[in-house]
Amino acid sequence: MSKYVGAIDQGTTSTRFMVFDHSGLEVAKHQLEHEQIYPQAGWVEHDPLEIWARTQDVIKGAMQKAGLDALQLVAIGVTNQRETTVVWNKQTGKPYYNAIVWQDTRTDRICNQLERDGLADLFRRKTGLPIATYFSGPKIKWILDNVEGVREAAERGDALFGNIDTWIIWNLTGGPNGGKHITDVTNASRTMLMNLETLDWDDELLRILGIPRQMLPEIRPSSDPSIYGMTAANGPFGAEIPVCGDLGDQQAATVGQTCFDVGEAKNTYGTGCFMLLNTGTEIVPSKSGLLTTVCYKFGDEPAVYALEGSIAITGALVQWLRDNLDFFDFSHHIEDYARTVEDNGGVYFVPAFSGLFAPYWRSDARGVIVGLTRYANKGHICRAALEATAYQTREVLDAMKADSGVDLAALKVDGGMVYNELLMQFQADILNVPVVRPQVAETTSLGAAYAAGLAVGFWSNLDDLRQNWQVDKTWTPAMDAEKREKLYRDWKRAVERTFGWVE
Ligand code: G3P
Repeated sequence: MSKYVGAIDQGTTSTRFMVFDHSGLEVAKHQLEHEQIYPQAGWVEHDPLEIWARTQDVIKGAMQKAGLDALQLVAIGVTNQRETTVVWNKQTGKPYYNAIVWQDTRTDRICNQLERDGLADLFRRKTGLPIATYFSGPKIKWILDNVEGVREAAERGDALFGNIDTWIIWNLTGGPNGGKHITDVTNASRTMLMNLETLDWDDELLRILGIPRQMLPEIRPSSDPSIYGMTAANGPFGAEIPVCGDLGDQQAATVGQTCFDVGEAKNTYGTGCFMLLNTGTEIVPSKSGLLTTVCYKFGDEPAVYALEGSIAITGALVQWLRDNLDFFDFSHHIEDYARTVEDNGGVYFVPAFSGLFAPYWRSDARGVIVGLTRYANKGHICRAALEATAYQTREVLDAMKADSGVDLAALKVDGGMVYNELLMQFQADILNVPVVRPQVAETTSLGAAYAAGLAVGFWSNLDDLRQNWQVDKTWTPAMDAEKREKLYRDWKRAVERTFGWVE
């Protein structure tokens, strides 16, 4: 009987389950969206029970499509939208509140207060992160401060915190009946609570945010031969399978792209865009607005770190044009509209919907469209929306160069938007760096599968994984330098218009 590895990828807009074979090729996939809840401007929530229901549905759906027996799966890996925060009751499995999503800005007051208290350097030094609404720590504090009874429950040890990886693994391994309360180093590195050097929760930071340690999960390696736990026999697999891989989705994509050498980088084009540069076992502090984060930790090997440029809104802008402005029925139609015009017609769209993340970290910024004239039409807006992704990526790459001194020979890309030819060519043009898409562009799920498969010896080492990586397509820069720099200068002017909108 052939053997395979399964990966759950719980993302911001959808959940998928994928099965991979030993060559890293897809055997089956099933994917479902879940509701985005916007209770007020700046707030974004998900229903954790819906997420767990969709997770079970996609597992069953993919297993049915594959026609496999669950026991053909040797290991399960989990990857997830990072930072999104769930607090639930350990006896009932019921969440106390909806999941507060990474894009949610409701914690801006908490963050501003921490800044005013002069704590920015302390958090940066210990966690590698700026103080920002993006991360889980302030979101946990918000729930403890605002949802009745949760603080007391947390102090009693009844309330558990988890990012989505933890929530899914707890449910997969039995939920209220013995579910394992764990996370991995990569997810923990996004909470603003983990010390990057000790890879443990930091008591001083917990005290500052008033978070009881007993509500936090145990931090484990991203690939763990000692196994986090077995799937419950009465769960969606109907069998006991080792769960032994766990990575935040951007770190998983870095692993799926086999960026195992220092200086290798990938950029994932999803809801947002996230570029990670492997810096090896060295913790490289950023002076240019990037994050220092954990890239992965495999078993007993030392942790590998990364510099990350996080951009909040890229693919989400396309969805916004589709859902909020009814510009088109399907996201991929944006390319057809963008191709109806020669260029952006002087229009720039800065989607600072959740403030601006890297390299600015401005929670006071809000989105703008500038350069409008009567000449501008739907095509120009679509083009400006696509170009925004490329300009934001250029800002991050410039910051990477400044922080690390690494000049990338090529950028490995993945994620939904990498099938947009116009965007990928423009990306190569505006970066002046070749852009390379691998054959398996589902690198996030693949990375989680790799982590799980390594833990049980399905793959023996990193070279095994490197062999699976093959080029699908390369886009070569073709824009003259003068045009490139003029476009980029105008983008920068547009960005300045977003600052200070929220007082
Ligand atoms: O940090 C947020 C990131 O993990 C979300 O990724 O792919 O769900 O948009 P994605």
